[in-house]
Amino acid sequence: MLTLQLVNQKVQHLMSVNTYTPDFITSIPASSLETQRWDKEWIVYLNTEDPKPFLFDASQLRLEDQFIEQIKNLSSEEIFNLTVCEGFTSLKTWVNGSDLVGKRVMEVGCGPAFLGKQLGAIASKYLGIDYSQLALSIARLVSPPTCDYVHMSEHNRLLEYAGSMDTMVSRFFFIHQNFDNALWVLKLAHFLLKPKGIVSADFYQGNLEIPQGVVFPAKTSLSQEYPSCGFEFTNAEIEELAKLSGFSITSMNKDTEMQRLFVRFEKQV
Ligand SMILES: C[S@@+](CC[C@H](N)C(=O)[O-])C[C@H]1O[C@@H](n2cnc3c(N)ncnc32)[C@H](O)[C@@H]1O
Repeated sequence: MLTLQLVNQKVQHLMSVNTYTPDFITSIPASSLETQRWDKEWIVYLNTEDPKPFLFDASQLRLEDQFIEQIKNLSSEEIFNLTVCEGFTSLKTWVNGSDLVGKRVMEVGCGPAFLGKQLGAIASKYLGIDYSQLALSIARLVSPPTCDYVHMSEHNRLLEYAGSMDTMVSRFFFIHQNFDNALWVLKLAHFLLKPKGIVSADFYQGNLEIPQGVVFPAKTSLSQEYPSCGFEFTNAEIEELAKLSGFSITSMNKDTEMQRLFVRFEKQV
């Protein structure tokens, strides 16, 4: 149990490293409608995709120390294409190995922990946050003990992590966020990261030579009918997001085939 003095000290510390006060957490949209929308989407994913990688039990996953040391030196492109062990496909997240190994790593939109259960074997701590209770229930059953999972509505649990994380990764996540959502997600990242902490974000940028699915411009409302639709951001809109949330952009890498723009943000205080 924290004493009042300790709570005050923690709040003071947070104010010194954060632009956003703890009250900010309560403004995050977290209705049961959002939970239901994404629970249903996970039922669709598990019925239409190969469910094995999502259900693969990695609670006992241990990697060789020598392999973990090698991962530390990998570039973002090498991490993207890295297969950590049999039974998984490649990581498909754009982040340097040195941002992961021994670091405190978080992911918003972690789903049933495809990434989290593998990063948990490399990072000192992995925090996964999601709207879907169904996905989080699976995540908790298949992850190593370094992993923790929090639902977006658990404000007190989120507060425990304020100002303490090094890196935020994303995998098939920012592609589904409209401008307003991407903005509060980045504000949440800013709140949970240490000063100079980084976010690696995967934005959608379409290649018109490839048939397009359901894609809307970034500044459109969310679609109730298509939770997994894409939202397309221009570079100017991404720069606007950074400015409004308190980050600087340190790199942008476009992958035309994957239809992605990978953006590395760094927290400014
Ligand atoms: C396409 S899935 C990707 C899941 C996971 N990153 C992976 O690669 O398997 C998108 C996930 O983000 C969650 N999600 C979507 N928007 C969200 C938001 N604004 N906040 C938290 N979770 C969200 C969904 O519930 C879903 O689990």
